[in-house]
Amino acid sequence: MDKLVIRGGNPLLGTVRISGAKNAALPCMAAALLTDEPVILENIPQVRDIETTRKLLAAMGAEVELGYGRAQHRTTISARLLAAPEASYDLVKTMRASTLVLGPLVARCGRARVSLPGGCAIGARPIDLHIKGLELLGAIITQEHGYVEATTDPQKGNRLHGAEIVFDKITVTGTEDLLMAATLAVGETVMTNCAREPEVGDLAMLLNAMGAHIEGAGTSTIRVQGVEKLHGARHRIIPDRIEAGTFIIAAALTGGDVNVTCCDPTHLTAVIQKLHETGVKTVIKSDCVRVMGDQALKAADMNTEEYPGFPTDMQAQYMALATQAEGTSMISENIFENRFMHAQELVRMGANIKVEGRRATVRGGTPLSSAAVLASDLRASASLVLAALVADGETIIDRVYHLDRGYENIEEKLKSLGAEIRRVGNIFPKRAAAPSRA
Ligand code: EPZ
Repeated sequence: MDKLVIRGGNPLLGTVRISGAKNAALPCMAAALLTDEPVILENIPQVRDIETTRKLLAAMGAEVELGYGRAQHRTTISARLLAAPEASYDLVKTMRASTLVLGPLVARCGRARVSLPGGCAIGARPIDLHIKGLELLGAIITQEHGYVEATTDPQKGNRLHGAEIVFDKITVTGTEDLLMAATLAVGETVMTNCAREPEVGDLAMLLNAMGAHIEGAGTSTIRVQGVEKLHGARHRIIPDRIEAGTFIIAAALTGGDVNVTCCDPTHLTAVIQKLHETGVKTVIKSDCVRVMGDQALKAADMNTEEYPGFPTDMQAQYMALATQAEGTSMISENIFENRFMHAQELVRMGANIKVEGRRATVRGGTPLSSAAVLASDLRASASLVLAALVADGETIIDRVYHLDRGYENIEEKLKSLGAEIRRVGNIFPKRAAAPSRA
């Protein structure tokens, strides 16, 4: 099992290039199931979740080419023949976003069998809203043996039909799953209380390029006019706003001066505004944020909210910064019920954090010392990397496979900025550029 070894104390200096957004690439790869023509996606990040999605689509019978480096981080997916519209438990348990294939499969094939994802480290994370929306679109749903089975209704021509859908809660992949299903439904679908994350907008851009008729993506009300068929398309995935936010905090925390390039600052307004509150200085250009961490950090309270609020996926990283800011920061996690696992690991490094339910009180200005720590989920591991960058001594972070799920080459990127970081153990197997079928 891989470990990262980080010696803290170096300010990060230089330029880092942000990769494509994992959470946009995953739904866009699932969208390729909606057509029998090739879909080409560019700016795909080389992370474990993309590899898992490749296996998932290939297991259904899709042809998935995935290449990095010379191939410009590109995948070509041809879902001509889908012999097995299924997502098995052994894949879904490693990546709950596999449930994104549910809507496309039932819309395209008239049936789908997808493992229920089960809980994960950060919360129960049910998919009841995905299921409720599909039933409103006319799918017949049964749940048994840990699987969801969805079929279209032969009484209704084996097609989904348009509906009015109001989400009881704002759900990102729920919005994406049903958006994809609605593109092939008969008639109009109006979805309200939708997620407004940029990744939803990116998916809608791909779907419209494939011939869908979607209006309002990125707002809380989305209208879809269903069509008979979708065709292939080429699409470039948006930059990863969470990776960009993570590097912005890394620069601020280490007192560095870093150009975070190939990002979209308009996706980071809440994060940048909060960091300004803590005293971080930035210069913002169209695709770059220059971060100057030469000011002492001041405490600032933070609440996670759905987009455009402060993203829950940046909460753990912000907590690492709060441990070094002068004063006390109150952090409220309003999206997930158990997303403070990183707090205890930060306390082992010397942080002063008290967790009560969904609120954490961080008394800042506490020097951190190196320790052997354990990553528990994707963003918690990012938080431990940030803390290790300013801790005294050499920190060892175990189970960094969590990190590899969503950060491309993080140690190379940090090393290029002057961090003392190395990976020990089996190197994450890099896939050959040649196309392959599972
Ligand atoms: C997406 O997860 C992201 N994953 C998560 O990023 C992110 O943390 C989350 O949105 C919130 O922004 C991907 O996009 C692949 P939700 P998702 O449905 O869609 C409840 C990362 O670190 N809910 O928006 O699964 C749910 O329990 C990952 O990259 C229901 O109750 O999250 C939660 O409390 C982690 N029923 C809230 O809604 C449902 O049917 C928001 O969850 C669906 C969700």
